Amino acid sequence: MSVSALAVTAQAAQPDASLSLKQTADRQKRAAAKAAVGLVEDGMVLGLGTGSTANFFVMLLGERIQDGLRVHGVPTSIATSALSRDCGIPVLSLREAEQIDLCVDGVDEVDGDLNAIKGGGGALLREKVVASAADRVVYIADGSKMKPRIGKFPLPVEVTPFATEVVRRKIRLLGCEPVLRMAADGMPFRTDERNFILDCPFELIEEPDALAAELSIIPGVVEHGLFLGMIDRMIIAGDDGIATYS
Ligand code: 5RP
Repeated sequence: MSVSALAVTAQAAQPDASLSLKQTADRQKRAAAKAAVGLVEDGMVLGLGTGSTANFFVMLLGERIQDGLRVHGVPTSIATSALSRDCGIPVLSLREAEQIDLCVDGVDEVDGDLNAIKGGGGALLREKVVASAADRVVYIADGSKMKPRIGKFPLPVEVTPFATEVVRRKIRLLGCEPVLRMAADGMPFRTDERNFILDCPFELIEEPDALAAELSIIPGVVEHGLFLGMIDRMIIAGDDGIATYS
């Protein structure tokens, strides 16, 4: 990994003791999103991620569309699809998109080798498929998401509901106690693909590639939230400005 650019920019978040942690994170998310919007060119087809950071990107993109930019978006979730339409972004399904030039999304955790955990918002399957179809993958985050090693954030694993208990027992053998994600209504959370999510608190993932391989071969696992070797550029906004890793 190399830090290809480190610059204090006008839009970068500035430290302000009076701001709450959330306000600071939101400022940083917006600053990272703004940097990513700067990479968008007329005529592009864009993969649009899911979550609060990706939402900033979608909203800022909508502003550029109002100024005359012509792009199409391929959303990674029903929620992002709705926001994109609200922001005036013409939306294509993945089937309709002949190619995706650039995919922009958030992360839950990322390390210096650009290994990431995603799926906190439950959209990991569509996010991974859209990223895999994109020519270029740029992820954006506030400074809190960058970690020396990943794994503190519980790893989301999407499972087909029928297999949940079998998968849970197999993941236990890999070293954590998976927790079935619940929705606000007290029922198991359902992804846009109607699957369940097991959140897996490994605490520290020493060998991400080995864990990804082990998870992938468990029957009933639809997808896991380890995004390895997928990120072309990581934009992190911190108190000191924007850092770009590639
Ligand atoms: C959704 C994701 C999100 O990108 C991830 O959870 C980060 O979300 P946020 O930007 O709200 O912190 O993977 O499935």
